[in-house]
Amino acid sequence: MRVLVTGSSGCIGAWTVKNLLDRGIDVVCFDTVEDFSRLGLISSQAGSPKLSFHGGRIEETEKIKHIVRQEEITHIVHLAAVLMPFCAANPVAGGMINVIGTLNVFEAARDAGRPVRVVYASSSAVWGPEDAYGERSLSEADPLLPGTHYGVFKQANEGNARIFYSANGISSIGLRPWTVYGVGRDHGLTADPTLAMKSVTLGNPFQIRVSGHMDLQYVEDVAETFIHCALSDLAGAHVFNLAGTIVEMNDLIAMIDRAKPGAKSLLSVTGPQVPVSFRMDASQLHANVPGIPRTSLEDGIGKTLAMFESLRVRGVLSA
Ligand SMILES: NC(=O)c1ccc[n+]([C@@H]2O[C@H](COP(=O)([O-])OP(=O)(O)OC[C@H]3O[C@@H](n4cnc5c(N)ncnc54)[C@H](O)[C@@H]3O)[C@@H](O)[C@H]2O)c1
Repeated sequence: MRVLVTGSSGCIGAWTVKNLLDRGIDVVCFDTVEDFSRLGLISSQAGSPKLSFHGGRIEETEKIKHIVRQEEITHIVHLAAVLMPFCAANPVAGGMINVIGTLNVFEAARDAGRPVRVVYASSSAVWGPEDAYGERSLSEADPLLPGTHYGVFKQANEGNARIFYSANGISSIGLRPWTVYGVGRDHGLTADPTLAMKSVTLGNPFQIRVSGHMDLQYVEDVAETFIHCALSDLAGAHVFNLAGTIVEMNDLIAMIDRAKPGAKSLLSVTGPQVPVSFRMDASQLHANVPGIPRTSLEDGIGKTLAMFESLRVRGVLSA
C-alpha cells in the first residue's frame, strides 16, 4: 500500500501524514513546496524513510499522472485546495486548483494501470445558509445550495467523482468537514477557534471574527476519518457529511475558559455567521465506514491547549 497525500503540508494533510506513518504505511507527499513545519509541530516523523515528497501544482495534469504511475500509488487522499476567502477573491484561480486539480487526481487514478482508490475533501460549504433549509439536520439526500464559489467547486468535484465511478469504475469517498480545529489550523475563514486557543496559550488577546454557530471537528478525528475511508473497501462514489460538536462562539469562549481559567478575559467575538448550514447528519458515514473516532469538544479543546502549551514551553509557538 502506497498512499499519495496531496496538500500534505496543510493542516489536515499534516495529521493525515502523521497517522499514516504511525501505522507504518508508505506516504508520498505532494504540495507546492516541501514544508513539513506543521508535521513537525505534531510529530517527530518528518525524517521518516517511509516519507517522500514531490513538489508541484495540483493543476499540472501530466505531473500528477506521472507521480501516481511511477510511485506505484494505490490510494490517494486528496486534500490540496485553496479555501473560501481565496476562492471568493480569485474564482478563476480557485476553480483551476480546486476543480481542475481534483479532475487531475481522478484522471491520474484512471490512467494508473492498477486500481487506485480516491478519498477527497469536499466541504460542508456545499450546503447553503441555515435559512435555506430551516432548523433541521441535513442528510446527504438534501439539495445542495452552496452560497460561495468554494462550495460550488466542491459540489462540482462530488459530481465528477460520481462520473469517474460510473464511467471508469473508480471508487471514491468525498468527505464534508465543517470547521476543523486543532494544532496546525492557522488560516481560512474558520481558523479562529484554533487561533483563539493559541492566543490564550501565549497570553495574548484575540477576537474571533465569525459569530453564531459552528460545527467543530477535531483535526485528528478528521484525518483518521480520511484514513478509515481510504482503508475501507466500500465500492462506489460516496459522499458523507462529517459531524463534530455544534457550538455558539460565546459558549466556545466559556469552554476554553473552563479549560484555561482566565482565558475569557482575552477573547471576544464579532462578525457574521458563516453562511453555511451547521446542522449535518453524519449517520451515513458511521453506517458505511466503521470505527470513525469522535473526540468530544471538551477533550479536543483540552488536547489542543496542552499541545500549544508544550510548543510554547519548547519556544516554538509564535504569535
Ligand atoms: N479546514 C477546514 O475546516 C476544512 C473544512 C472543510 C473542507 N476542508 C477541505 O480540506 C482540505 C484540506 O484543508 P486544510 O484545512 O488542511 O487546508 P490547508 O490550507 O491547511 O492545506 C491545503 C494545502 O493545499 C496546498 N495547495 C494549495 N494550492 C495548491 C496547488 N495549486 N497545488 C498543490 N498544493 C496546493 C497548500 O499548500 C496547503 O498545504 C481542503 O480541500 C479543504 O477545502 C477543510
